[in-house]
Amino acid sequence: MYKTFYLCLSLLSGVVLLIIMGLAGYKEVSPEWRGYQSEYKEILIKNAKDNASKDKARTLDIGIQQIYLGGLKRVERCTNCHLGVDNPLTTDAKQPFKTHSDNFLKDHSPDRFGCTVCHNGQGRATNAREAHGVGRGTHWDRPLIPFEFIQSSCAQCHDFEMLKDKGGEKVVKGERLFRERGCKGCHKLAGVGGVLGKTLDGIGSQPVAYFPMRHVEGEKTIYEWMKEHFDDPRNIVLDSKMLADLTDEESDLLTNYVLSVRSEEIPKKYRRIQGMSPEALSKNKEESLYKEYCIACHTTGKDSVYDDVFKSTIPAIMNPAFLKVADGRFLKTVISEGRAGTQMTSWKFDAAGVSDEDIDRIIKYITRERPDEKPEPFGFTRFKSDVKYGEELYRIRCMSCHGEKGQGGVGLNLRNPVVQEKANSEFLAITVRDGRKGTPMAAFGKDGVGLGDQDIVDVIAYVRTVSSKKL
Ligand code: HEC
Ligand code: HEC
Ligand code: HEC
Ligand code: HEC
Ligand code: HEC
Ligand code: HEC
Repeated sequence: MYKTFYLCLSLLSGVVLLIIMGLAGYKEVSPEWRGYQSEYKEILIKNAKDNASKDKARTLDIGIQQIYLGGLKRVERCTNCHLGVDNPLTTDAKQPFKTHSDNFLKDHSPDRFGCTVCHNGQGRATNAREAHGVGRGTHWDRPLIPFEFIQSSCAQCHDFEMLKDKGGEKVVKGERLFRERGCKGCHKLAGVGGVLGKTLDGIGSQPVAYFPMRHVEGEKTIYEWMKEHFDDPRNIVLDSKMLADLTDEESDLLTNYVLSVRSEEIPKKYRRIQGMSPEALSKNKEESLYKEYCIACHTTGKDSVYDDVFKSTIPAIMNPAFLKVADGRFLKTVISEGRAGTQMTSWKFDAAGVSDEDIDRIIKYITRERPDEKPEPFGFTRFKSDVKYGEELYRIRCMSCHGEKGQGGVGLNLRNPVVQEKANSEFLAITVRDGRKGTPMAAFGKDGVGLGDQDIVDVIAYVRTVSSKKL
């Protein structure tokens, strides 16, 4: 009984094995591309205009195609199936036989450039799924790039000046947006920029595994990750501290630009050397610099905004009340040193790559509407102070905004070294007395909340001690 059972079982598995081997063998003898090649031949015969070309098409022996791109160190077999890309007679044929659109192949002949420099995909593969790298289980870092982002490829070899009216409008606009939206406020690129986000050099070449794909809705590709991350960073990286409020079109443009920032070296002879974009040389250098580094957080500089992402306030640095008390030297210190313990990072050359001259230009921009009149002097040094009483006042008047230990919240962080060591007491006293009109920082002096000058001196004496308290 058992014997027959096992006999049947082994016979059955033998048959199954034979079928599998047969199938594999068939695939080997008749790979996908072969089918396309005979189909292509029939199309050519059908489309032939005269008998001579019909005969020629009949004798066409195609066989496996392979383009070796020495300088680019690539081997490509896309034309095994995309047989008609440079044949003007197949404009009406279906894919993969259709003539390539526009003039792309006239300027970039397949023999010299291949296809993957623009399209990505896996050049060596001989079946469509692996060549396109699309879908589960293909394990290819750079599948075909969707057409809406394909312009990111052009910028590997062309400069923005040339691309702006020759097929690269999106990536050019994306680059401009990158500067005008202040992405460098948090990201370094080519050595310049803030430090809250990562350095973006070579970001477009990062392997897929680098990106957390869990919350990506579309295909799990770097293209889709970028687009969805720009649409809403916190949908993709749940605790992201990135600020970006972009329309759908803007995230599309930025995706094109960011994907163009790659690390592969394309040899010189394949490139048109990258130059400075025209906007980078803009007439108003001061304004461009402000936009590039500061605007993402400080926006127009007119409003004091409590930021939900940072859980702290981004101050109104162009507020007249602030500009009245903050002199050039103070601004230079704040901008160069930043404020330790806050999102205001250091902008000096060693940290962010911004030159001293450029910091001066930014200050010129911030202070361009500084009021002429000076604030009434306070005369801080006339007073003696009472720290204990100051602490009481601080608890009642200031703590709710500036935090129990001066760590900030709705109010600014008062613990950091710039406030403690670089802001003089006159500056602090006038700020507390006159406040910053238009922001939550009220005037605490006689004309406002009603604290006397002595009270203000005491509270500041206490503020001077907060940084020694453990957080
Ligand atoms: C085995 C055959 C085969 C190979 C090899 C192949 N393709 Fe394709 N390709 C197709 C077919 C069939 C289509 C049309 C159906 C589809 O979109 O899958 C196509 C479509 C495309 C499209 C258009 C997609 C769209 O959305 O309209 C592009 C672009 C493309 N291929 C590029 C490439 C590149 C680049 C390579 C080489 C890395 C390549 N293909 C290799 C068969 C192939
Ligand atoms: C210089 C860049 C570049 C190169 C090189 C290139 N393509 Fe394209 N290709 C494009 C662009 C851009 C489009 C999209 C046009 C559009 O937006 O409709 C495109 C579109 C396509 C399409 C979609 C149908 C069409 O023609 O619009 C296919 C298929 C395709 N390319 C295949 C190839 C293959 C195969 C090669 C290699 C022989 C190749 N391409 C080389 C830039 C290129
Ligand atoms: C691998 C590098 C490379 C990529 C990628 C590339 N190009 Fe080119 N392109 C070149 C080179 C090199 C030339 C000059 C060809 C020559 O002189 O033989 C050229 C020529 C051109 C020309 C014609 C020359 C001119 O000044 O009018 C245009 C237009 C063009 N490319 C647009 C594009 C667009 C649009 C893309 C992206 C879809 C693109 N290129 C992608 C390298 C590249
Ligand atoms: C307030 C600071 C801030 C600003 C402004 C900002 N980012 Fe970010 N960005 C971050 C942080 C923090 C991350 C890491 C968390 C995440 O992936 O969301 C990040 C992540 C990224 C990533 C993924 C990088 C990687 O290596 O994973 C890209 C790409 C990016 N930002 C581009 C931009 C662009 C483009 C802009 C301008 C529209 C911008 N960022 C503005 C803080 C910022
Ligand atoms: C990532 C967000 C971010 C960026 C980018 C940024 N700042 Fe700030 N900035 C802040 C925050 C937050 C504070 C308040 C820090 C605190 O609590 O003390 C601040 C404070 C300041 C202050 C002090 C204001 C005051 O009331 O004392 C000045 C001046 C300033 N920033 C200028 C700049 C300039 C100029 C740039 C561009 C070079 C810049 N910031 C870029 C977030 C940012
Ligand atoms: C209702 C909330 C609130 C209260 C209460 C408050 N502040 Fe402020 N304070 C702020 C805000 C917001 C700013 C930043 C305003 C701006 O420039 O945008 C600020 C700014 C300051 C600054 C300037 C710091 C700098 O780096 O330029 C000092 C100093 C200061 N506050 C001290 C005090 C003291 C002392 C008290 C109590 C007497 C107090 N504040 C009460 C909200 C408050």
